[in-house]
Amino acid sequence: MTVASSPVVPAVDGSRQSTVAAENKVPRHVAIIMDGNGRWAERRHLPRVAGHRAGAEAVRRAMQAAVDAGVECLTVYAFSSENWRRSEEEVSDLKGLMRFYVERELATLQKEGVRLRLIGEPGKFGNELMTKLQHSVEETRNNNRLTLAVALNYGSQGEIAAAARELASRAAKGEIAPEQIDEAAIAGLLQTRDLPPLDLLIRTSGEVRLSNFLLWQAAYAELVFTDTLWPDFDEAAFNEALAEYARRQRRFGGR
Ligand code: FPP
Repeated sequence: MTVASSPVVPAVDGSRQSTVAAENKVPRHVAIIMDGNGRWAERRHLPRVAGHRAGAEAVRRAMQAAVDAGVECLTVYAFSSENWRRSEEEVSDLKGLMRFYVERELATLQKEGVRLRLIGEPGKFGNELMTKLQHSVEETRNNNRLTLAVALNYGSQGEIAAAARELASRAAKGEIAPEQIDEAAIAGLLQTRDLPPLDLLIRTSGEVRLSNFLLWQAAYAELVFTDTLWPDFDEAAFNEALAEYARRQRRFGGR
C-alpha cells in the first residue's frame, strides 16, 4: 500500500488521489458507523443483544460486499471509547460476541484474503479477548484483498491528542522543531497511518453525526447517511452507498 506517502490533504489541483477515485469510482477506504442495533431489536421485542448479534452478521455481509466490490479497506466502529457507559450486561454481551466472531470468522478471513487490523485501545477488553484478536491479526497479516480494520475502544479526539502529545514530547526533547509539526506529522502518528485515505464514511439508522469517529481522516471523505438500521444493512445497501459515492464530484477544496 502507498499509504505512508499519500498526501494527507490532497493537493489543491485535485491530486493523484482524486484522479484515482474519479477514474474507477470505487472507494479505496470505506468506514462505517454501525448504528441501530438496539432499535432493530426493540422493534422486534427482542433483547438488545439480539440486535448486536444481527449486527455482527451484517459486518460479515459488509465485509463480503467490500471484497466483491474491490474496496481495499473497510473500517468498522465496533466499540467507541464512550460505549463503556452502557450497562455492564450490554458491554459483556458485546465482548462475548466479539470473542465468538473472532474465532469463528478466522477461516472466512483466510478464505477471502482479508487482513484483520485493530484500531483504538482494545487492551481494555482484557487478556483473553486480546489474545484471540491478536492471534487473528497475526494469522491474517499477509492477506491482501481487503483490510478489515475494527475500531475497538476507539475515540478520534483521543487518537489525535495522543499524536499531539507524542509530537510535543519529541519537540521537548529537541528531536524535532515545532515548525515541523504539520498535517503529515500528525497523520503519520494516527492509528490509520498505514491505511489508504478515507474516501467514504457511512452511518446507518438515520443519525447524522460522526460520534468521535475518524474525525481527522474524514476531512475529505464523502458522507452517506442512511435510515436503514445496521442489522438490515445488506450487500444491496452497501452497493447503493458505493453508487452514491460514484455519483459524487470530489473536489478536495478545489473547483
Ligand atoms: C450501535 O447500535 C452498535 C454498537 C454500539 C455496536 C456495534 C457492534 C456490532 C455490530 C456487533 C459486534 C461487532 C463485531 C465486529 C463482531 P446501538 O446499540 O447504538 O443501536 P441503537 O442506537 O438503536 O440503540
